[in-house]
Amino acid sequence: MYKAEGCIVFVLILLSLIACGDDKNIDRLPYPDLMDFPTYFDAMNVPEDNPYSYERWEIGKALFYDPILSRDSSISCADCHKQELAFSDNVAVTPGVDGLLGTRNAPTLANVGFQPYYLTEGGLPTLEMQVLVPIQEHAEFDFNIVLIAERLRNSSYYNDWIEDVFDRKPDSYVITRSIATFERSLISAQSPYDQFIQGDEEALSESARAGMDLFFSDALSCSECHGGPNFTTYAFENNGLYEVYDDPGRFRVTNDPSDIARFKVPTLRNIEFTAPYMHNGSQQSLDQVLEHYNTGGFSHMHKSELIRPLGLSPQELNQLEDFLYSLTDRNFKDNPLFKP
Ligand code: HEC
Ligand code: HEC
Repeated sequence: MYKAEGCIVFVLILLSLIACGDDKNIDRLPYPDLMDFPTYFDAMNVPEDNPYSYERWEIGKALFYDPILSRDSSISCADCHKQELAFSDNVAVTPGVDGLLGTRNAPTLANVGFQPYYLTEGGLPTLEMQVLVPIQEHAEFDFNIVLIAERLRNSSYYNDWIEDVFDRKPDSYVITRSIATFERSLISAQSPYDQFIQGDEEALSESARAGMDLFFSDALSCSECHGGPNFTTYAFENNGLYEVYDDPGRFRVTNDPSDIARFKVPTLRNIEFTAPYMHNGSQQSLDQVLEHYNTGGFSHMHKSELIRPLGLSPQELNQLEDFLYSLTDRNFKDNPLFKP
């Protein structure tokens, strides 16, 4: 098993060398390299009618970066999901059209293609459907997908390109399928932690390894919720952030009172770049988050039993933090393929 993984890493390194040697070829790396991920990842959730194609991906990337999607053409997806921040943002709530503010923090899109459902309440089963949310939200694009399709048809640049690739005029199908295709390529799997589990013992410092042991220990239980290749089980949990929440969380889609203030467990990959934290961006730093877990948080009727005072020493907190920093994937945030 390690051999096969080592081989993939080797191929990746080779490819990156080739890419560095010849800049012209960078954005022409063909399928399937763009969609490669390690064998210890889960299978990706890809709808049958939208298999990966590089041609769709290119259109999706162009639309992701194009403010043409917003009502007044002022902002794009990338204004809230910034590559240099692992496709998240560094303010609690990013303003949409007319400066209108929503209530939630823009999460990272790293490995978003592996998620079984979307948004913190988990109400949407596919990335294709999720595209409609920012388009319609008043505090995001405040627009309408039919009117976006009309704009694209009126642009000879997009109209000809889309007809060429999809064999149809720009419409909702094209917009949702192409953007989702781009999002599925946002794969982050080259952190020091990944190198470590692929056999490179040197990839983690002694302190990060001690932090890893703590993270996966029964004494801390972090991995009970943040387990698996993406450091989330995708369960809906309450981690004791407040006694009273403004946000109903999972209850929003189920209307089941036992789901009040439960939120989808977020990935911890690239956590170094995704501050501020939690569904509303209320925690400013990793230190603050770890302090929260160390004290056990506030009591809420749905708080998980796993959230309780941990009694970690300053040194253990540092080790845990060093481990979390080992989930940083610089190749992901700097990947020239993802730039506009
Ligand atoms: C004004 C800021 C803003 C814009 C513009 C925006 N987003 Fe988001 N995005 C957010 C916020 C905030 C959330 C979290 C929403 C929630 O959980 O309810 C989010 C969530 C998501 C998610 C779900 C991630 C998850 O973990 O469940 C995806 C996927 C996504 N956005 C993609 C996009 C795409 C594609 C675009 C452009 C079509 C876009 N976003 C435009 C702020 C924005
Ligand atoms: C009972 C499940 C559970 C356990 C155990 C748990 N977490 Fe979490 N964690 C969550 C949930 C749910 C959130 C998001 C809460 C929200 O959005 O308000 C979260 C958020 C976080 C975040 C912020 C992520 C972001 O992008 O906003 C970090 C960092 C984190 N947890 C680290 C840890 C560490 C370290 C441990 C162990 C000490 C741990 N968690 C234990 C459920 C859990």
